[in-house]
Amino acid sequence: MKIDLVTIFPGILEGPFRESMIKRAVDRGLVEINLVDLRDYTRDRHRQVDDTPYGGGYGMILKPEPIYEAVEDLKSKSGSGTARVILLTPQGRRFNQDAARELSQEKHLIMICGRYEGVDERVRSTLVDDEISIGDYVLTGGELAAAVVVDAVVRLLPGFIAEEAAANESFSESLLEHPHYTRPPVFRGMEVPSVLQSGNHAEIDRWRRMQSVKRTYERRPDLLEKARLLPDEKAYLEKIEKQQDK
Ligand code: ADE
Repeated sequence: MKIDLVTIFPGILEGPFRESMIKRAVDRGLVEINLVDLRDYTRDRHRQVDDTPYGGGYGMILKPEPIYEAVEDLKSKSGSGTARVILLTPQGRRFNQDAARELSQEKHLIMICGRYEGVDERVRSTLVDDEISIGDYVLTGGELAAAVVVDAVVRLLPGFIAEEAAANESFSESLLEHPHYTRPPVFRGMEVPSVLQSGNHAEIDRWRRMQSVKRTYERRPDLLEKARLLPDEKAYLEKIEKQQDK
């Protein structure tokens, strides 16, 4: 997969992809991530990427010409002709694990990081395939949102982590994860649940599944509507629901 990030602040995006697991994915060739400076696609002496809004009002708007030229250049370089162009904006569809999975199937993503008060509408209406928001809050620009999307997408690429681990996760299964513990067995008087120390894998598996159900019920009951529960999980859920009613 190839990901081009078009931004006027490439420095913001340098950190997230130069550390840890994403860096490893880049080093192993699972993904190529390019930071593209929008100012490189300006033609004037001042390398101007923004201008005042028609009709007046507060703030500056990203001009269409450099964005068009950047995207056209990146598309022509990719050769595949199947790039998906994404604008990061609070007006986009809400990003979630299903969206991450969908984007992880693409060969080439071109992400445009919005800035200032917005982006010229002609970019939205004719250049962009998809608009994405990472949540109902307003950031100063799309860079941090793009970093979130890239992180969630790259970790789903084949070969990134054991397929089984990816399949087992919260949100993939619509249940939150069970609690995790590591050594020491007793820390400041707090003991690791004995079942986890028992070595009985059937019991451990059951305990974890029930803890997932309980946690989801307590924290994100909305997720339970989508969850496909096994009979013993359903029975456990009914039991904790009854306890609540009392
Ligand atoms: N740009 C500013 N806020 C944003 C958000 N919440 N999601 C995506 N892009 C943004």
